[in-house]
Amino acid sequence: MKDNLKEKYIGTLPQQKLLKLYAKYVNKPKARFFKGFGLAVIPGERNGVYMKTLEGSRPNEPPLELINCRSSGGVFNLGHRHPKIIKTLKDALDGGLDLGDHMLLSEQRALLGEKLAELMPGDISKTTFGVSGGEAIDTAIKFSRAYTKRKGCISALGGYHGHTGFALLTGDIDFKDPFLWNFPEFKQVPFGDADSIRNAITDDIACVILETIPATGGVLIAPEGYFQEVREICDDSGIMLIMDEVQSGLGRTGHFWAIYGGIYPNEKVVPDFIVCGKGMSSGIYPLSTCSYKPCIEKAVFKEDPFIHISTTGGSDLACAVALEMLKIQSDPNFLDHVKEMGNIFGKGLKKIVEENIDILKEARGRGLMWGLEFNNVEDSQLSMLSIIKQGVLLNYCGNKKDTLIIMPPLIVKKEDLEEILSRIRLGITQLKDIKKR
Ligand SMILES: Cc1ncc(COP(=O)(O)O)c(C=O)c1O
Repeated sequence: MKDNLKEKYIGTLPQQKLLKLYAKYVNKPKARFFKGFGLAVIPGERNGVYMKTLEGSRPNEPPLELINCRSSGGVFNLGHRHPKIIKTLKDALDGGLDLGDHMLLSEQRALLGEKLAELMPGDISKTTFGVSGGEAIDTAIKFSRAYTKRKGCISALGGYHGHTGFALLTGDIDFKDPFLWNFPEFKQVPFGDADSIRNAITDDIACVILETIPATGGVLIAPEGYFQEVREICDDSGIMLIMDEVQSGLGRTGHFWAIYGGIYPNEKVVPDFIVCGKGMSSGIYPLSTCSYKPCIEKAVFKEDPFIHISTTGGSDLACAVALEMLKIQSDPNFLDHVKEMGNIFGKGLKKIVEENIDILKEARGRGLMWGLEFNNVEDSQLSMLSIIKQGVLLNYCGNKKDTLIIMPPLIVKKEDLEEILSRIRLGITQLKDIKKR
């Protein structure tokens, strides 16, 4: 980072002044929320697994130096500002690329599409690009409807697929009600129970959509055989199976796809759609992908190849960056690293649970995606604050607030994990000490 440029973008105004601007011009309730939690801090410098705040959370306190175990749900799979990604973006700019024109064909989109097809399970080989995860989920549901000529969708209670049109319809009622956005053909059933899907099927169901590991829903691990059974149920009724790998895909579990060996190594399910977002951007340039089987292409695009478009989705710059990211993250050595780190991390978290059974219930996860479930919501939220104060950034699951979700960047080293585990342990101990007083 060049110091003269850093000053231009980071720490331009005092934190208090920026908070006031945020409240006045962006979102006052959000600024208040963070203040209420005593976390009125703004991200500043970031590099690798670390993120610094501009200032401390209170006047005269030093800036927090946080190990980012949120990773923004996988956006920072490669940590902050990975040098190869930064170089690729700079090279792509210097090499003559810009956004490109979405109405025209694109060299970069073709190359990225080819790489994705190579990495996809089964015969999934076509990709439609977007900017956000929600947009790519909307695309998958929209295409399922075109293919099946049916309207309905079954999703999991507590699941989260985004806040856009169809994606919002798949989610929990609290997010839909304020926007008067609820249709009976979109149904929710408990995650992990194949019978509940079977029982919800009617003639009008186009698709079943699931996160392979529901993240917002509490980092849930489905029972063995669940996805296989869901696949069979969908096949029996001509229903499309959409797997949302926005958080769990791209190597997060130590396997490239969670649905294809990442949950149970011998369970390799081929869905009809795989949707990616977040990590597709490598933390640098937004991109999401909706990949699907070739038979679906005909149903959507045959009559009109322009029936679905996205002006900035699949831009040339984003595709060049994502191609580099895929090369890094699909490398077997990289995936082995995630597996190894995942084993260390999982063991460490389970030990912390054993040491704190008075407040902790379970650590569950795969690879570097873990949930730490507390006996109640209060302990989960207070532990989150206490752990952040120890320098580990993490958060509770939005739809299962008794569980903290912990997703370190996939580039973490053993020493980082030891540091993270010791800070989590300290955060929990300090909370317990305060509660005893
Ligand atoms: C599993 C999952 N799917 C989809 C989305 C939506 O992505 P976006 O916020 O980019 O629209 C999210 C976002 O958190 C997510 O976690």
